[in-house]
Amino acid sequence: MKPRPTKRSWAEPWKVKMVEPLRMISADERRRAIAAAGYNTFLLRSEDVYIDLLTDSGTSAMSDQQWAGMMLGDEAYAGSRNFYNLEAAIQKYYGYRYITPTHQGRGAENILSQICIKPGDYVPGNMYFTTTRHHQEAAGGTFVDVVIPEAHDPANEFPFKGNVDLEALAALIARVGAAKIPYVCVAATVNMAGGQPISMANMQAVRALTRAHGIRIFLDATRAVENAWFIQQLEPGYRDRSVASILLEFCSYSDGCTMSGKKDALVNIGGWLALNDKDLYDEASALVVVYEGLHTYGGMAGRDMEAMARGIAESVSDDHMTARIGQVQYLGEMLHDWGVPVVRPIGGHAVYLDARAFYPHIPQDQFPAQALAANLYEESGVRAMERGIVSAGRDKLTGENHHPKLELVRLTIPRRVYTQAHMDVTAESVAAVWDARASARGLRMTYEPRHLRFFQARFEPI
Ligand code: F0G
Repeated sequence: MKPRPTKRSWAEPWKVKMVEPLRMISADERRRAIAAAGYNTFLLRSEDVYIDLLTDSGTSAMSDQQWAGMMLGDEAYAGSRNFYNLEAAIQKYYGYRYITPTHQGRGAENILSQICIKPGDYVPGNMYFTTTRHHQEAAGGTFVDVVIPEAHDPANEFPFKGNVDLEALAALIARVGAAKIPYVCVAATVNMAGGQPISMANMQAVRALTRAHGIRIFLDATRAVENAWFIQQLEPGYRDRSVASILLEFCSYSDGCTMSGKKDALVNIGGWLALNDKDLYDEASALVVVYEGLHTYGGMAGRDMEAMARGIAESVSDDHMTARIGQVQYLGEMLHDWGVPVVRPIGGHAVYLDARAFYPHIPQDQFPAQALAANLYEESGVRAMERGIVSAGRDKLTGENHHPKLELVRLTIPRRVYTQAHMDVTAESVAAVWDARASARGLRMTYEPRHLRFFQARFEPI
């Protein structure tokens, strides 16, 4: 008999009602599929994927309550009852005053950037995100990374690697002047750093610093509920607070948010822009009608707004978050225990493989993370995503490649979709690629799209 562990496990606070069969194609077919996709996992057909860890965006399983809500869709062009339900849910759980839906997060980023950023402005943020920076730069701004240096080191165990470097932010304000900084963009959690959280104390300090200079803070709230869970677990004084109350406090230190509802909010499509300033909201809603749709639907169907309103309420449940992030940590800790290099500590929505440590023999200009993602698919049908030099793109002025310190492959866990057994199979697949690391080769880019190149770029093996 083996000794019985003394721990008490968490389990998902739901049971499965409907299933979708998975298909595993042969190794030969996978080799052909990834070659036909130009070694870019975004260009694979999902039918050819076994376990799909490309993204947690729009890939969640909805609850029976959300599906029931879909039947209550009020598909009026204007003033749909589902809009008012959504507005009430955002006001209740996030605490912002004025809300307009958008078709997804980048729709909100576009509107916010256009109404706030003038050419020549600087937009500090705790690490870039692809679409967010794109819209800031398209509006004439320059993104300035003010995340703490620990965030760029995959092995550093600091629990709040999403924190803003207050000295760097103060130095930027001193250098360019507050008038050239329309807002600070705070992401919680920080996707590109590994799903790393920012602490409440840091957020309060950013608020104090920006208030002194009359600078706004806009939150990228895409995974702010996950961030709230980390604060509950790791920050002194928050252990007895609910995720919901932590979220509300956290958001109160910002002036509004952009949101991709496709993550935390447990829906397949949708987002919103929330603002506390009425004048700014009036400007935003004047632009929403140009790019998204009327300000009471913003590109969303009534039924989808209803599903999102219900998803928000479900997302702030402590039990949901414990199981959601518990599953991510289960996969991450298993790989870490096996000696596979992953970003530490394990973040909220994904496990990030350190491609530099996998393939030290492949120079960054030969796209080690892109190659690793392709190799993982070939090995086992598991689909992951590059988050390295391809995603980082080019400098908007010099046209040179950005060379990010982090060269990562993201194993992103959809919410309420896969089981622990899928995590085991994934870990074993990653371990097999790790064992074969010495024979891996780099890639050459054969097609580079002009914008957000990682989505559609094509490669061939060197
Ligand atoms: N902000 C963050 C932090 C994100 O992760 C995303 C999307 C967006 C904004 C944009 O939202 O996709 O709804 O337009 N992230 C997805 C991902 C694409 O896979 O990480 P969107």
